[in-house]
Amino acid sequence: TRPHIVVVGSTMIDMITYAERVPDAGETLIGERFVQGFGGKGANQAVLAARLGAAVTMATCVGIDALGDATVENLRREGIDVDHVTRTDQASSGVAPIWVERDGTNRIICVPGANHEMTQQQARTAVLATPQVDGVVGQLEVPQAVTSAGFRAAKERGAFTVLNPAPAGALDPGLVEVTDWLVPNEAELVELARSLGVSADGTPEHLAVAIARTTGTRVVVTLGSRGAAVCEDGEASVHIAAPTVEAVDTTGAGDAFVGAFAYGLAEGRSATEASRLGCACASASVTRHGTQTSYPTPEEVASLIQQLA
Ligand code: RIB
Ligand code: NA
Repeated sequence: TRPHIVVVGSTMIDMITYAERVPDAGETLIGERFVQGFGGKGANQAVLAARLGAAVTMATCVGIDALGDATVENLRREGIDVDHVTRTDQASSGVAPIWVERDGTNRIICVPGANHEMTQQQARTAVLATPQVDGVVGQLEVPQAVTSAGFRAAKERGAFTVLNPAPAGALDPGLVEVTDWLVPNEAELVELARSLGVSADGTPEHLAVAIARTTGTRVVVTLGSRGAAVCEDGEASVHIAAPTVEAVDTTGAGDAFVGAFAYGLAEGRSATEASRLGCACASASVTRHGTQTSYPTPEEVASLIQQLA
């Protein structure tokens, strides 16, 4: 049967300016190129899971502004259920102005805005009111108490929960308690270790084991071109290699992994098989520019899955 996923999370409009360099204080520069795209970790993960064929419900909050209209329209176009998207006049829709210099250095100021107006009740209702839910996915771009409320509802329904602890930060104990799977990248893994008082020395594989043991969750750490490491038992981790590709833009690759991983689990795959699917989708995404624009199409996804079978 079709996997069913609820994403409790963020939407952002990514506004990318390419310039030779960033201006100094008080200086005005002429930039080279500007691209606007749909982003936000929650929306990116939702879109990837939907492209794979999942029925996806997105719980998020956008502003009463043109960016909010466009964001909802984009989710709809991707076939995502928007019944639990709320609108607020208290803040603008989430935006992520991004500056990229000639040498590829980027600077991002993420302004969550309306994302922070989500409520615990909203997250809880989205999870409980959706007819079928296999898994619930969250990140750290909406308040942790909101994500916890969604995850708690997931546990009541017997659904699994996947937390992508990004952007890097310390976790509320209440959120960890209702998290089945933690899926950080290497930097986020180190930050988790630091905030949990776990020694941050050693390989990511070792750290994943230590964090799994301390939190009582299962941990999958994404390793960029090196793939991922899966730790299911607090004992050892299994390494998953990623397909070798020519990378042009890694923005949103982590989100592609998380969306595909959640889809895989919801489909009944093992964690290692779900991670293989995650690596395949993330690898496809880094070969193209942008975030959601770089994600595989349903046709490409079908051939990716065939290659893995
Ligand atoms: O993970 C990439 C995303 O992080 C971007 O789409 C940007 O919106 C930020 O939220
Ligand atoms: Na990309």
